[in-house]
Amino acid sequence: MIDILPNGQTLCYGIFGYPIKHSLSPVFQSYTFRKKGINALYLPFEVKPQELGIAIKGARALNIQGLNITIPHKEDILKYVNHFSEDVNKIGSCNTLTLTSDGIFAYNTDWIGFKRALEQKLTNAHKTALVLGAGGTTKAILYALEHIGINAYVYNRTIEKAIALKNLFNIEVVKSPEDIVKKVDIIINATSVGLKDDDKQLFDYNLIEQRHIVFDVIYRQTNLIKASKQKHATVISGLPMLIYQGLESFKIWTGIDANDIIEDIFDLLKQYQKA
Ligand code: ATR
Repeated sequence: MIDILPNGQTLCYGIFGYPIKHSLSPVFQSYTFRKKGINALYLPFEVKPQELGIAIKGARALNIQGLNITIPHKEDILKYVNHFSEDVNKIGSCNTLTLTSDGIFAYNTDWIGFKRALEQKLTNAHKTALVLGAGGTTKAILYALEHIGINAYVYNRTIEKAIALKNLFNIEVVKSPEDIVKKVDIIINATSVGLKDDDKQLFDYNLIEQRHIVFDVIYRQTNLIKASKQKHATVISGLPMLIYQGLESFKIWTGIDANDIIEDIFDLLKQYQKA
């Protein structure tokens, strides 16, 4: 037992989010550190938006080595960053930090995780996507879609935020999701709807067809996922994206590729999802 307990040399990593209680990242990253023989802890930190600045200052003072950044901090965190990766500069949001004596470095591994998860189901027939949401996750997704060569339509509850994305990406903003669902091949939920129990319909789910790929960044059985399964659409839950982006973050922090234990990670997280 003694080798699994923290000691004076244990390194500390974690995730900032609000809410954070749903997060599977602590399970996943702690397991990966353990499996790779690294003496490190990875903890969930519930950080309120108005306390993000204090939290990041505290993390530096406490010598925390690296952080994941999730809803709703992926854009606001950039105010506190000293060095931006090329991807972060282009996307304008980040989900991974390293905290070093040379300052805070920001990376975006969300887009890599999203792209890898989507490409597993993609065929040449899939050419257009509707993206729901206009936050930091949406930006990473639009960046990935641009890389793949898929045309994107964006719908957001607050239309001004969707329109602002036109400065960064070659997208079309739509006023109503219903009008466009019938036209597109892929439907992507990048809002936080489904994260908690506020799982309302984002659009009329009766419009989902078997030919659609439906991708929900949320990694629980959301109403969107359930409705899409009923329609026999191709469904991608947030779990593969979570794992792929997390493996990239792990590699940034440790230099270690943990893809060799990916099946174990999937099994572990599926167990936690059921629990
Ligand atoms: P992230 O950085 O992870 O994308 P975010 O920036 O907080 O998180 O963005 C959350 C997204 O979910 C936003 O697009 C938000 O819509 P608004 O811009 O209108 O706030 C969307 N969202 C959150 N709650 C929603 C709800 N109840 N209905 C529809 N969209 C919602």
